[in-house]
Amino acid sequence: MKRLAVFASGSGSNFEAIAEGCRRGDVDAEVVLCVCDKAGAYVLERAAKYGVETLVFNPKEFGSKREAESMIADRMDSLGVDLVCLAGYMRIVGEELLGRYGGRIINIHPALLPAFPGAHGIRDAFEYGVKVFGVTIHYVDETLDGGKIISQVAVPYEGDDMEELETMIHKAEHQLYVQTIQKLISSK
Ligand code: GRF
Repeated sequence: MKRLAVFASGSGSNFEAIAEGCRRGDVDAEVVLCVCDKAGAYVLERAAKYGVETLVFNPKEFGSKREAESMIADRMDSLGVDLVCLAGYMRIVGEELLGRYGGRIINIHPALLPAFPGAHGIRDAFEYGVKVFGVTIHYVDETLDGGKIISQVAVPYEGDDMEELETMIHKAEHQLYVQTIQKLISSK
């Protein structure tokens, strides 16, 4: 049984999809740690609901990104984490984590990369006026949303309601993340 760490900064609906996928047995893994850089984020309530250990940290309390990441990597080492899933984690992963967990960190992005990278993928694509939106899961490297693509799904939408579109994309995200993690795990 593989051991996952999920990093999130906000609501954590992807965290919950992954935790639920593991609980249902759709993913042969266990979420052993939720890493969060925002005290009070809703993902922490979801982690409590699933009985997942949390590591909440305030980046400002560390002298450098390396120090914060070193603390996180130490905790992951002690828990025997196999795969790190970023799910709405609003920080750029730095050298320390990439050095120790590189090749084992994946991220979900709510657009069809390489189009619309960055923090507002859905809004940027909507404002551009594309008709096929989507979701990408990729390995994390030192670039912003630029690592090797693992999986993608298209979400066609021709309407004008961004909230409706967001709901559709989040639904696609939850399905794709669970399927992709299971595929990665079972291919190793
Ligand atoms: C998702 O849209 C994800 O693709 C992006 O941030 C959002 C996180 O949503 N990176 P949630 O916190 O999982 O609900």
